[in-house]
This record gives sequence, structure tokens and C-alpha cells, in this order.
Amino acid sequence: MKAMVASSYGGPEVFQLRHVPISHPEKDEVLVKVHVASLTTADTMMRVGKPYIGRLFTGIRKPKHPIPGTGFSGVVVAVGENVTRFVEGDEVFGETTLGFSTHAEYVLLPENGVIQHKPENLPHEEAASYGDGVLTAYNFLIEIANLTPGQRVLINGAAGAVGSAGLQIAKHFGAHVTAVASAHNHGKLTQLGADACIDYQTQDFTESNQLFDVVFDAVGKSSYAKCKSILTPNGIYLSTVLKASILWDSFITALTQSTKRAAFAATGLRKDHELNEMLSEVIKIQQKGALHLPIDRQYPLEKLAEAHGYLSTGKKKGNVILRVES
Ligand SMILES: NC(=O)c1ccc[n+]([C@@H]2O[C@H](COP(=O)([O-])OP(=O)(O)OC[C@H]3O[C@@H](n4cnc5c(N)ncnc54)[C@H](OP(=O)(O)O)[C@@H]3O)[C@@H](O)[C@H]2O)c1
Repeated sequence: MKAMVASSYGGPEVFQLRHVPISHPEKDEVLVKVHVASLTTADTMMRVGKPYIGRLFTGIRKPKHPIPGTGFSGVVVAVGENVTRFVEGDEVFGETTLGFSTHAEYVLLPENGVIQHKPENLPHEEAASYGDGVLTAYNFLIEIANLTPGQRVLINGAAGAVGSAGLQIAKHFGAHVTAVASAHNHGKLTQLGADACIDYQTQDFTESNQLFDVVFDAVGKSSYAKCKSILTPNGIYLSTVLKASILWDSFITALTQSTKRAAFAATGLRKDHELNEMLSEVIKIQQKGALHLPIDRQYPLEKLAEAHGYLSTGKKKGNVILRVES
């Protein structure tokens, strides 16, 4: 099969198109023909191997799994003899997390991995990206912040994959949402449900005179220290980006039992069964018509290096995908 392979950490030039053997499913495994794979900001961090702490999971000197990519949507083409949840021909989608390997024509997963039947009305293009922005936003807003109806939420980086999913999930749960993004994205964000928009290029949202129950910094550009004054007395600041400051603030606010809290989480490190349960919950939201993933750009498998160049700009809108089956 065709696969993109990276045998070292580095720039986009580390990717090479190779022909590699297709692995056949063991007793409890499912072989999926990948139609579309996700392309995420985290993929660029895995490619360079930074922050270095991530190498504890991805390989110290070089990538443990040379084929990159974690999100996928495709069709089951073979199953192991003990598999009961899936049969050949099922359309499926999910996430391989630390198993990577979706930037290839075929990927193997354990039956009890993060894999679900794809709803008919969910296109492969959107399904492939659910494991990134949607699961992350659900993890932060629902699992960590326990968002409730009527709460006021501010989302920084609302035009990205995490932010645009967070906006829709927060609206689905009955929150009032203020979206922070460049002005040219405000129209789209209003269509997705934003009640108010702030242009971070002309206004510092941390100096707002309004209070928020949740400040969800989906791009990690601010800090708890700066946002504390715009949190309600029991408000929470969430950041998706690992920095010493968010770890310290999470630790201190928990230790001192402060009513205002800070939190970070690495969604992809949650257990497979937990991610699978969250995926079931977000499918319910999608089935109610409340979740639409904006697709910014798509690239063919062979253009992975070019795609990484675009991801590295930090300016993508919503989701970028890799079209594996032409
Ligand atoms: N912790 C976790 O579990 C987890 C999981 C997945 C992803 N992540 C992380 O989450 C982050 C966001 O990923 P993403 O894919 O949603 O987005 P992204 O591609 O990293 O960022 C895209 C958006 O960021 C906005 N942006 C750039 N500079 C900004 C600023 N100074 N203030 C506000 N917005 C700004 C841009 O919006 P405009 O066009 O409006 O300027 C753009 O639409 C990444 O760092 C990723 O690694 C964490």
C-alpha cells in the first residue's frame, strides 16, 4: 500500500511516499481502507518532536510509528476472527491516538479502539476530523468544565478546529457564546451560532467588562493570570496548549481550592474506551444537526509536506484533511 513515512523528526521534508506491506488483522483487529485522514496542528508537533516531553509517547530519538496521522474515516475491508462489532463493508471513523498510521491507504485498529460506525449523513471529509477538534472541545467544555445551560462562555481561537467545534458544542448545551477571532471570520462564526464576536487584532478580550463562567482558550494564546479578572467567582480558564504556566496555575488553583480554576488536559492521552464514549456522545449531537465541521483545505496523500507547511502557519480555518483515496 502507499503510505507517507517519516523515519526521523524534522521539517516537512522528512515525509517520503513509500510502498509498505499491508498488515493483516489479528483476532481482535479491524483493517480499514482509509478514504480521508485528518491533518491537525498536533501532527506538526509530532513531526518536529516538540515539545520534547511528547517524545515520551511518540519515540525518544525518532518516531516510534513512522506513518503519521491519527484521525481517519473509511471502510472496513477485513476483520479478525473474534471481531463482533464490525463486518467487512462497514463505514467507520475514529482515531488511532498513539498508534498513528492513518496517512496510508490502510490502517489496523483493535476492535475496542476509538472506532465507530459512521452515520450515513456524515461525510468522510468531516468524520475524519472528529477525533481532533470535536473530541477535544467536548473533553474540555463538557467533561472538565461541566458546562450547563445559560452559562457564558468565551472561546479564544474560535475559527480553528477546536474553537469552531467548541462553539457549536457550547451552543448545543445552551450556553451564551462569545467567539474571539479575526474580523474576517465573524460572519462564519455567527452562522455557527456565536452570540457575540471579538476581533483579537483590535480588542484585548482579557480587558472585557463582561464576566464569563468559562474562558476556553482553544489556541493557548492567553493565560489564567490575564483571564482571571473576566471569570465569574466560580469560573474556569481552560487552555489546550501545554505550557509551564497552565500546569502551574492548574496545580495552584486545585491546591488552594480556589473557586476560580485553571485546567489543561491532553485529550489524546485519555483511555480508548473514554474517547469512544465521548465519540458516541458527539455523534448524538451531530445527528441532531447541531455539529458541522468547516473544511478549510484538502490535500492528496502525496502532498503531505505541502499540507504541513499550511498547518504551520497557525491560520487554518476549521479543519484540514488528507484525501487518501482518490
Ligand atoms: N490539549 C489537547 O487535548 C489538544 C487537542 C487538539 C488540539 N490541541 C491544540 O489546540 C490548538 C488549536 O488547534 P486548532 O486546530 O483548533 O487551531 P490552529 O490551527 O492551531 O489555529 C487556527 C486558528 O487560530 C487562530 N489564531 C491565531 N492566532 C491567534 C491569536 N493570537 N488569538 C486568537 N486566535 C488566533 C486563527 O484564527 P483567525 O483566522 O481568526 O486569526 C486560526 O483560525 C493547537 O495548538 C493544538 O495543538 C490540543
